[in-house]
Amino acid sequence: MTSKATLLGTLRISSIGGAIGIALLVVPASAHKDPVSPNQLKAYQDAFMEEVRKGDLLFHGDQATADALGVGEDLSKTGMACAMCHPMASDTHPQSFPKFQAQMAQFATLRDMINWCIEKPNQGVKIDPESEAMKALEAYITWSNTGSVLQPGKY
Ligand code: HEC
Repeated sequence: MTSKATLLGTLRISSIGGAIGIALLVVPASAHKDPVSPNQLKAYQDAFMEEVRKGDLLFHGDQATADALGVGEDLSKTGMACAMCHPMASDTHPQSFPKFQAQMAQFATLRDMINWCIEKPNQGVKIDPESEAMKALEAYITWSNTGSVLQPGKY
């Protein structure tokens, strides 16, 4: 027969366990432990804007930038630049990815979609999703949509 004392003891131990568990949960997960100095912050922002600048050039069909990033032969075979169909990155909706994309009949990331546009409307050759050029295009497209509300999955 379980005595009351034992039962209370068990409850107490489990509540201590629970308290420790909760304490562990509420300790802030600090991805940014070290404070960033104004100089560092500027360097980080400059690095971001440098990607945006490259992406802007690629998006507007700058051949020298495409060549420099090794995608000069790939981005477009029609002479059309991204910006001719998407002026000011319009209708690019990076905030809605990842989502099911009907054209591809698959769940797609923004990078998949960029490659779809390179392959289909631009009749070019898909670029490496991890490439410098892809990151720059992604940076430009997301920067252009600054302030948009994240709505992943929105079709
Ligand atoms: C000839 C016109 C044309 C060109 C050039 C073009 N696109 Fe597109 N783009 C489209 C069409 C059409 C769609 C599909 C619209 C839809 O149904 O979402 C699209 C969709 C997109 C989307 C996703 C939009 C969304 O909300 O799902 C992105 C991102 C995109 N294009 C990026 C690019 C990039 C980057 C380039 C240049 C490499 C490019 N496009 C060149 C016509 C074009």
